[in-house]
Amino acid sequence: MAEHPAYPVGLRLTGRRVVVLGGGQVAQRRLPALIAAGADVLLVSPGATPSVEAMADAGEITWERRGYADGDLADAWYALIATSDPEANTRASAEAERHRVWCVRSDDADRATAWTPATGHSEGVTVAVLTTDAKGRDPRHTAAIRDAVVEGLRDGTLVAPHHRTRTPGVALVGGGPGDPDLITVRGRRLLAEADVVIADRLGPRDLLAELPPHVEVIDAAKIPYGRFMAQEAINNALIEHARQGKSVVRLKGGDPYVFGRGMEELQALAEAGIPCTVVPGISSSISVPGAAGIPVTHRGVAHEFTVVSGHVAPDDERSLVDWPSLAKLTGTLVVLMGVDKIGRIAETLVAHGKSPDTPVALVQEGTTAAQRRVDATLATVAGTVVAQEVRPPAVIVIGEVVAVGRPGAV
Ligand SMILES: C[S@@+](CC[C@H](N)C(=O)[O-])C[C@H]1O[C@@H](n2cnc3c(N)ncnc32)[C@H](O)[C@@H]1O
Repeated sequence: MAEHPAYPVGLRLTGRRVVVLGGGQVAQRRLPALIAAGADVLLVSPGATPSVEAMADAGEITWERRGYADGDLADAWYALIATSDPEANTRASAEAERHRVWCVRSDDADRATAWTPATGHSEGVTVAVLTTDAKGRDPRHTAAIRDAVVEGLRDGTLVAPHHRTRTPGVALVGGGPGDPDLITVRGRRLLAEADVVIADRLGPRDLLAELPPHVEVIDAAKIPYGRFMAQEAINNALIEHARQGKSVVRLKGGDPYVFGRGMEELQALAEAGIPCTVVPGISSSISVPGAAGIPVTHRGVAHEFTVVSGHVAPDDERSLVDWPSLAKLTGTLVVLMGVDKIGRIAETLVAHGKSPDTPVALVQEGTTAAQRRVDATLATVAGTVVAQEVRPPAVIVIGEVVAVGRPGAV
């Protein structure tokens, strides 16, 4: 008989009887998907694995503790034959054929009337992979194809834009500290689906080069803002593009809510009635020290870490940071946007009790090819920054953790 390809189909099993013969490893692997499909599962088996037993105990399946008997498949829509008794499997297959019940056989795919594809899910889509015919059956290969497709869809390396369900709007995406591998899977997928990307200078700029040519990439720093403040101009650009029915990604460095003005953008979009989703990102405040070998906490050294903005100096009346209190903390201080003000920050901390010998590290352009780390102490940091020409963006870490990962440190 000529070998024809299998015909793929999606069974809608809600409330329909599915009979599973055998309660071993095969049943254990297949049952969760049958339960998720809403099938009315009857398991016929003298024994079962602990996991299968737990599904029966939880009422997810009905379990009759006995061997297969003729007539078990009479009311089934679909059957999984997976007992350890080949003779029982053959009898059950024959019964399935008689009742015209599609059946999968774990011991003999050739004699089965159905095959289970390798399946995976991503964002409302089920990916199911089958070999074309019995001769080409290679479950590892189909599973590998399934994994590649699902992973690709999840991380955006396989671009399949939504056409029917995609809703225009804005996604505020935290892009992480700069290394393109450090964006979240969701962020990368949204980026792959965007029509317009408004990006900051910080963050994973390399990802922009990978975008398809039709995607409009706008540098947030270059949006003309005339009589508006820069932030207002960015908010307006987001609103305008979303109103044109486009999918807009606002790609931000680190996490949108860590000194990222994410909430201001969210509020402006909400006021304009534009749907907005926020995707968290890996903040430079933790990841950049980590990339330079500095843990922000370490057992027996620091039980807390505090992240502060250094964009205004301690003696500036606009500062909301309580530097005298910070000087009294024993844990780690992480300062963002503080390169220009580090001299006055160090002076203030020392004036309020912190030891001038407290170790300090500046990590410039962390997680990128240009990353560099410069070490100092509170007493020397002002001079070191000038002498070593440290430039923003840099994360400054102050505290004993700085010494932990140094060569020779215990
Ligand atoms: C406006 S804040 C934004 C922070 C961002 N939302 C986050 O969670 O990382 C910008 C500051 O973050 C720090 N920064 C961000 N990315 C960095 C990187 N790759 N290397 C060093 N510092 C970085 C610098 O202190 C920079 O001045």
